[in-house]
Order: sequence, then C-alpha cells, then structure tokens
Amino acid sequence: MNHKQEEILKLKEEKNAIILAHNYQTQEIQEIADFLGDSLELCIKASQIEDADLVVFCGVDFMAETAAILNPSKKILIPDPQAECPMAHMLPAEDVIKYKKRYPQAAVVLYVNTLAEAKAEADILCTSANAAQVVESLDEDQILFGPDMNLASFVQKRTDKEIIPIPEVGYCYVHKMFNTGDVTFSRENYPDAEVLVHPECDAEVQEAADQILSTGGMLRHVAASSNKSFLIGTEVDMVTRLRRENPDKLIYPLLDEAICETMKRHTLDKVKNSLMEEKFQVKVPEDIADKARSAVERMLEVS
Ligand code: 13P
Ligand code: SF4
Repeated sequence: MNHKQEEILKLKEEKNAIILAHNYQTQEIQEIADFLGDSLELCIKASQIEDADLVVFCGVDFMAETAAILNPSKKILIPDPQAECPMAHMLPAEDVIKYKKRYPQAAVVLYVNTLAEAKAEADILCTSANAAQVVESLDEDQILFGPDMNLASFVQKRTDKEIIPIPEVGYCYVHKMFNTGDVTFSRENYPDAEVLVHPECDAEVQEAADQILSTGGMLRHVAASSNKSFLIGTEVDMVTRLRRENPDKLIYPLLDEAICETMKRHTLDKVKNSLMEEKFQVKVPEDIADKARSAVERMLEVS
C-alpha cells in the first residue's frame, strides 16, 4: 500500500465508509476496495449493505445509481460525477416508452447499463452474467431488450423468444474496438491461450472466441480452469485483476487499447476527497427509485 492508499483506509474507518469498485478500476483502486466485482455482484452487494454510513462507489454512473436505488436511506458517493457510461445514455426513458407503445404485448428487459429513469420503465433488469436466464424466466414471448445490441444477439442465440433490440444500434465503444483480426492475430502469437470475450463484443468476435463471459464469469473461469494461458477480450484492467489473483497463470489482453476512459476518471485523490467532503452524492428521485427498485429486485430474485 502507498501513502495515499493508507490515508484513504484510515479515513474510511473514521467515516464508517465502504468502497465498492468495478473490475475495470485501476490497480490502486482495486487494492483499497472493500468489494470488487462485476455489475451483478455489485448490485447484490449494494442490496446487502447494512452497517456502513457512507458508500463510495468507484464505477460508472448507472452502477452508483443502482446502489442508491437499493439503499434510499444511505449516502452513496461517486468520486467523479463525470464517470458516465456512454452506452447507458443511448436509451433515454422516452425511447423506452415509445417502444412500449409500439409493442404493448412485449416484456421490457433492460441491461443494468441504463439510467434510473429508463430502469423505471423496465419490467426487469439483467446484467451480462444473467441476461439469458432473466429472459427465460418471463412468460412473454416477445422481449424488448436494450441498450446493448450485442448482448441482445447473445441472448437471441440462447432463447426461442423474439428479442427486439432497443435502440436498434446500442453499443459499448470499448467492446466495439475488438475485431476478429485481433482474435486470429493473438491466437497465432499465443496458440495455447483460451480466448475469453465479453458479450458486449460484436457477434463475430463472440463467435471467434472460446468463451463468452461477464467479468465475474471470467474470474471464476480462469480460477477453475486447468488451462495456463488466457487472452482477455474486455476492458484492460480486467487483466490487472486476473493477473493479481492468478499469479501462476499467463493472462494477456486481446487489445491494449480497450480502455474505458470514464471508469478511469476515479483516482486516489478523488476517492480521498470524496470521503473527506462527502461528495458527490448520487441522488435518484423517490418515484423513479421506487419503480426502478422493483425491476432490480425482480432480477435479484431470478439470479
Ligand atoms: P460486467 O457486468 O460483466 O462487469 O460488465 C459491466 C460493463 O460495463 C461491461 O462493459
Ligand atoms: Fe459502459 Fe463500455 Fe465502459 Fe462498460 S466498458 S462502463 S459498457 S462504456
């Protein structure tokens, strides 16, 4: 631990705070987190917070909002309020309402990568770890699914239900960077490596890979596998966590440039400031939070 990290740990104790962080955070933030996980694990953890007075959330806007939705009486802080997920902003609530009018018989399944107002319009949420399971749990045969078109096509291949992507083209710019050439080229260099990609990658990249997994799924797979080397097709700091926790294995990024810029807005200085000044508080209006909470809780029951 460096000096700044030690200061944060001390402050955290004084303030009775906990730090939740997504797997894409930098190593120095991963090291000070009380809990590190994928979106589903972070939702579950956020639903179980009991004795902390403050929660500092090192992730993007929709993740911190979900924690606020699940904990209306707690102070949820985000160290940099500009840590936004561009994909979550591709499906505003008005658009969900428009699609619901066009397909009144369809169920609405939204990825947690949506803003609170859109979540409030969903029947149920999903993450990359449980999307197919959530869709299969529903009675409806027609599903409005958004905003990630690649996760929608991943689910379509695993269900007989009709999946209608909303919007037609919603995507993550980080996972869009991967192409099949990266898989072919990397396999030539590391012929023994197993290729793991995230379901936000394009369908052709998913087809070229060996496994399609959420970030939490990648962690479990690498720990349990007898393989020694892996190529990781998701945000580069996932490699950081995998390497730290699997020192006996060889873990390589499929693409060094796959960096989620907004995840990296959180720094140790900003985390310290967030704890000292108790800012920036994430607030979700009560009526929106109540509606969105039902959709999150319905997902947690299925998972
Ligand atoms: P995971 O839930 O797999 O961690 O994915 C979150 C995310 O934002 C992927 O880009
Ligand atoms: Fe959003 Fe993509 Fe960053 Fe995940 S990696 S938070 S989907 S921009």
